[in-house]
Amino acid sequence: MSDALIALRGVTKRYGSGASELMALKGIDLDIAAGEFVAIMGPSGSGKSTAMNILGCLDTPTGGQYLFKGAHVETLTRDQRARLRRRYLGFVFQGFNLLARTSAQENVELPLLYRGDNASVRRVAAAKALQSVGLGGWERHTPAELSGGQQQRVAIARAIVTAPAVVLADEPTGNLDTQRSHEIMGLLLALNRDHGITVLMVTHEPDMAAYARRMVHFVDGRLAKDEVNPHPITCAPAEPIASTAVATPATPTAPRVPPALPTPEVT
Ligand SMILES: Nc1ncnc2c1ncn2[C@@H]1O[C@H](COP(=O)(O)OP(=O)(O)O)[C@@H](O)[C@H]1O
Ligand SMILES: [Mg+2]
Repeated sequence: MSDALIALRGVTKRYGSGASELMALKGIDLDIAAGEFVAIMGPSGSGKSTAMNILGCLDTPTGGQYLFKGAHVETLTRDQRARLRRRYLGFVFQGFNLLARTSAQENVELPLLYRGDNASVRRVAAAKALQSVGLGGWERHTPAELSGGQQQRVAIARAIVTAPAVVLADEPTGNLDTQRSHEIMGLLLALNRDHGITVLMVTHEPDMAAYARRMVHFVDGRLAKDEVNPHPITCAPAEPIASTAVATPATPTAPRVPPALPTPEVT
């Protein structure tokens, strides 16, 4: 029995069948403790996004086990996985994935809407999350009226507005210039360091991976290397996040450990 927040045991993922069959993951074993900041690296096509989608409960493994706080995610129903996702996980994507023609405020409110929070709770929490990523005053702007860096900040606000235990970021700086990338890394670093949020980030840029305390390398669907970064970057050029402004912060520095999940019906 592992006390890891996240544990993958022999996880495989097969796409297609017959002649088009492809093993994207060939048996991944990975333990991640609460409060870690992990960079996932590796060449294009090595299975990083496939692994992130499984970790994020957006997809299911073909084989093996995925334990989240000891609960077997691979046995959960689609609805149970969705609940786990809404309650514990936040997502940041390379392409920001914001709703167009929808204000920053409404984009950030969306996860709260899914959760069933009422309008005034949503409004206050979203405004606070936007404030915390340095976007106070930009609530009414639509994605088209924001720069790429600002759009990614809105996406981070959307990811943290539910006070998740884990933020999963798949190439979050892939569409940004160097300065904007470091600003985004500053935000992720602050979430991890000041709010105890576990951060899993895919990147192919060593400059961005340098913020993580641990680097995991994928090659051809396998874990090729798992190393500690002895000298992670501990402060970014710009750190706009206010350490008091994230929605319902955990005790500073203490990892945000979610309560145990209800045990799925396994026999
Ligand atoms: N939905 C899918 N259907 C079929 N093949 C896929 C699908 N998603 C990814 N793949 C394939 O799985 C392999 C791993 O992809 P991916 O996890 O996206 O790699 P990475 O994120 O490391 O670039 C690649 O060969 C890719 O073409
Ligand atoms: Mg990818």
